[in-house]
Amino acid sequence: MTILERWSLHISAMLTGATGLLYGWLRYFGQRVGEFGVEPHPLQAMLQHLHVLAAPLLVFTLGLLVRGHVLPMWRSGRAGGRASGIVLALILAPMVLSGYAVQVAVEPKWRLAFAWIHGALSMIFLVGYSLHQLLSLRQPRIAEAPNGEVSLNPS
Ligand code: HEM
Ligand code: HEM
Repeated sequence: MTILERWSLHISAMLTGATGLLYGWLRYFGQRVGEFGVEPHPLQAMLQHLHVLAAPLLVFTLGLLVRGHVLPMWRSGRAGGRASGIVLALILAPMVLSGYAVQVAVEPKWRLAFAWIHGALSMIFLVGYSLHQLLSLRQPRIAEAPNGEVSLNPS
């Protein structure tokens, strides 16, 4: 994993996670009683847009990571962070697909079902991602230079 990939991943995961959590919070707990009855929180639409805009950054970075990190780590058989890494790798596709399914579902019951699936998988992703960082901390870092050279413990 190059420095650029590592930081793109940390930043895009943080942006997507934070906007998703805030959007979910406002959507389900932020409603207000206005002049004409119950209405959405004034910031809900903005957070929804920010989440939908941040998500492709994470999806793009995750795509890079599959080739630059997931496959080499899987083949190397290294121990630290292996279980959390495999869980993360397995939920990436369903997390992304369920997010888009929430957006395109027409029937309310399907929208709600996908929202639950997306919410649950996203929470597992955020917890798993944090755990993966902690569990892999003691492992020697492997970095790939732009010319393809691999080095251990880069500064
Ligand atoms: C990283 C952690 C993430 C969290 C905590 C999160 C959280 C949420 C929440 C709470 C919702 C609202 C569901 C509802 O309407 O009931 C949502 C919707 C959505 N999420 Fe995520 N999400 C995450 C990652 C992603 C990713 C990786 C994608 C990439 C496709 C994504 C795409 C979407 C889309 C398209 C929606 C539908 C927005 C709409 O209402 O039109 N999310 N997300
Ligand atoms: C088969 C699956 C995976 C395995 C076996 C695995 C294993 C590891 C190991 C051994 C490390 C520490 C050594 C190093 O940094 O080179 C590490 C670090 C890391 N992993 Fe994974 N991983 C997997 C999947 C994933 C996935 C899916 C993600 C992202 C969602 C991820 C994100 C990271 C990050 C951000 C680091 C820290 C890199 C750094 O600071 O240089 N890994 N992983």
